[in-house]
Amino acid sequence: MVRAGGFLHWGVPHGVAPSPADWTPDSWRACRAAAGLGPIPEYDDAGALSAAVERIAALPPLVTSGEIERLRQRLAEAAEGRAFVLWGGDCAETFSDCTSGAIAARLKMLLQMALVLRAAGDVPVVRIGRIAGQYAKPRSSPVETRVVGGREATLPSYFGDLINRSEFTAAARRPDPALMLEGYRCAGLTLNFIRALLDAGFADLHHPENWDLGFLSRAALLPEQREAYRRLAERVSVHPPADPAAEEFYTSHEALNLWYESAQTRRVPRRDGWFNLTCHLPWIGQRTGDEAGPHVEYARGVHNPIGLKIGPEMTGQRLARLVRILDPHDEPGRLVLLPRLGVARVRPVLDDLVRSLSAIGRRGLWVVDPMHGNSVVTSRGVKTRSFDDVLAEIHAADEVLRAHGRRLAGVHVELTPLDVTECVGGAAGIGEDDLPRNYTSPCDPRLNYEQAMELAFAVAGLLQGRGASVSAGSR
Ligand code: PEP
Ligand code: CO
Repeated sequence: MVRAGGFLHWGVPHGVAPSPADWTPDSWRACRAAAGLGPIPEYDDAGALSAAVERIAALPPLVTSGEIERLRQRLAEAAEGRAFVLWGGDCAETFSDCTSGAIAARLKMLLQMALVLRAAGDVPVVRIGRIAGQYAKPRSSPVETRVVGGREATLPSYFGDLINRSEFTAAARRPDPALMLEGYRCAGLTLNFIRALLDAGFADLHHPENWDLGFLSRAALLPEQREAYRRLAERVSVHPPADPAAEEFYTSHEALNLWYESAQTRRVPRRDGWFNLTCHLPWIGQRTGDEAGPHVEYARGVHNPIGLKIGPEMTGQRLARLVRILDPHDEPGRLVLLPRLGVARVRPVLDDLVRSLSAIGRRGLWVVDPMHGNSVVTSRGVKTRSFDDVLAEIHAADEVLRAHGRRLAGVHVELTPLDVTECVGGAAGIGEDDLPRNYTSPCDPRLNYEQAMELAFAVAGLLQGRGASVSAGSR
């Protein structure tokens, strides 16, 4: 099997361009002054910072270059409709999530969702977790002001467990380089457990009767939906779809703290170029996608596939420039475009972006993030998202892409296996009044278990609707 881009067979890419000659794992540091600090933490103890960075650099990697190459291959297949990407997890992981129960529950939920998609779409599902390292969070404001003891106090914002601590005290909010080591340790432990579970056959979950599919009996579900979902659940159970990638699971996080990312960016024997070995798929957040900024500079030089979040302010010209920087040779599976435009903006903006890329001869590898453009604040000041908006954005993105002869390669969602009440809607009918009942996210609102499974069934319907064109490919 020889394909454009030169992949000969699994995991052995040929013709992958070397890392750029004017790039090093640390060249991002020179961009900091020009682009402003952005959300890279300003550590005040240079000695402690270099000690942490040196220690991480000396530790064994969390993932291998071979796995990274294999993911690139899988993503290239998803771009062609021969696989579908399910990418999800918490908005922010915390170090306290590093427990056997929390890890197993999150893995199980993603695997169950993947099975539903696999049964419907008849293509392998590439499973990617926002897990084992999703510890750093960009914030809209570098500082937070609260009234403490009757007086206003302003402290650095909480940037996630990798950077500082959430308690509202000066000591807790001080960026602490030692947290990078703790993050690396928790990421390693999490991934080790995931690997062990998959090794032990944990992915064999073909028993929907043991899943909690409570939403199927909810009155809000249309009868024809209920029937279609029931048939799909039966299909999973009676004819469990063989999964050619059953042992594969990939990790991802936002590559926000470049001290952490670059510490574990290495060359490996017998392969060209540099790899970020903290995860398989680092992504650039919406707030750090400045073309001249440090995050884009860092990402352009590593061989990992890179995700790029795309907000509604993105212009076609800017996206075209970013694509040329991050993927100058149009390599299969290299750059995952993650539009997170919101249901109100997705049609015109995505349409424009697809046209602009076409104008420079690029098709794009599109995975929709239907969460981050759909955040709203209720009249009582609670940040939430509507299940219906999330689903509608997925459908809209799919339609726009199809209208251009492109395809939706996957979905990127924030979810949790817990019974939280953070997003409204879905068949379970969570309303605004229910939100305070169990709202535990330290960051963005997540779909709960029922909503996540309902979403999987709904997206499965979209894959079924594609029918043969999904498996046959239609480039
Ligand atoms: C996120 O994925 O949690 C996030 C902050 O996304 P974005 O950069 O798209 O806002
Ligand atoms: Co988020």
